Amino acid sequence: MTDPAPAITQPTPTAVAVRIWDLPTRLFHWTLVVSCFGSVVTGKIGGNLVDWHMRLGLLAFTLLAFRLLWGFVGGHWSRFVNFVPTPARLVHYLRGGSVLEDRSWVGHNPLGALSVLAMLGLLVAQVGTGLVADDEIANTGPLNRFVSNATALAATGWHRHFGSKLIVALVVLHIAAIVYYRVRKRADLVPPMIHGDKWLAPGVPASADGLAQRLLALVLVLACAAAAVWVASFGS
Ligand code: HEM
Repeated sequence: MTDPAPAITQPTPTAVAVRIWDLPTRLFHWTLVVSCFGSVVTGKIGGNLVDWHMRLGLLAFTLLAFRLLWGFVGGHWSRFVNFVPTPARLVHYLRGGSVLEDRSWVGHNPLGALSVLAMLGLLVAQVGTGLVADDEIANTGPLNRFVSNATALAATGWHRHFGSKLIVALVVLHIAAIVYYRVRKRADLVPPMIHGDKWLAPGVPASADGLAQRLLALVLVLACAAAAVWVASFGS
């Protein structure tokens, strides 16, 4: 989430539109939403939809691998170094500090950044456990044969129970926080995740979002998709 200061989400006479979320980050986000909802639904229904569950899991693999790389080479506000909070920033934020004093919150604020990291970490664990899972009926993850039976069953337990429930809980919290910011703090965080821009005082660095940056993202996504296909090939 971002600081509630209205100037960052609404135009004012002195504010300028600054690109915060580059196109690759926005596409990553909304495709991740589709893959998460799809995975939960197909996982719950099971049956013939298990194939789709696995495909969506590989899509999540591709997206997460891409986002981890993008955290190092992506646009300014998508880089981990520009949003992972230090303890000092977290304390400053929790004591009611403002984005005007600490511009490192222009992207995710310190608390929002922690929830983003938790979501990414849990999703990585969910994909990882799915890759080695064994439902003891007809389906195994593509890397199942590389782990012991005990490891596969422990991973399956996490994947089916704790992992999926924790992710759903975090997503509910994520959406509730966005609604809270909209209703109580009058800061709408969703439009910037759609068009990319926030209204800010001049001088805030923008995320690079030109053709070169987008081509780099495309190359990385294709490499991550190739890695996912390669991983999947162990299951055939
Ligand atoms: C399965 C559901 C969802 C997942 C897994 C998810 C995950 C994430 C992640 C990982 C980020 C960080 C983006 C990045 O830095 O790469 C993020 C940010 C964001 N998400 Fe979601 N999201 C979900 C649903 C939604 C929905 C339904 C909305 C809109 C109502 C939404 C709105 C946002 C916004 C506005 C941000 C930026 C927050 C900020 O300004 O700090 N998300 N989400």
